[in-house]
Amino acid sequence: MKSFFQSLVLLMFLNLAGAVHAADCAVEITAGDNLAYSLSTIQVSRSCESVNIAFKHLGSLPAAAMGHNFVIAKSVDLQAIQNDGNKAGMSGGYLKSEDDRVIVASQIIGGGEATSVELPVGRLAEGQDYSFFCTVMSHSVVMKGTISLVP
Ligand code: CO
Repeated sequence: MKSFFQSLVLLMFLNLAGAVHAADCAVEITAGDNLAYSLSTIQVSRSCESVNIAFKHLGSLPAAAMGHNFVIAKSVDLQAIQNDGNKAGMSGGYLKSEDDRVIVASQIIGGGEATSVELPVGRLAEGQDYSFFCTVMSHSVVMKGTISLVP
């Protein structure tokens, strides 16, 4: 039976492993047949030139019924991007064409599909709040999270 101390050391090791993973400059995030991402916050290390964000839809519904995308922008721009995305509709990828408020955006994927985006870390300014969100059918009302810069 493990002692409390051994458990504590194990926990410290797991935390360290998590930190090492962030420094890999790669993040994996998933969604399913509901309006939620697997993460509520993505920590981006300043030491990374860019971060590769792999996005997988683990559900089974097609994009037309439960499609998701992955968009990053300033939190203050989220609502305006969503409003314009609604006008663009599914055929426009639920984003205004060449929307310069959008820092990165993935294609829309359905159940069983995967995609990825490359986030240039230099596009994130210190002291600015950033969000990631899904613009498909106004999912961003609940399907969103925050991006934070970490050392
Ligand atoms: Co969605």
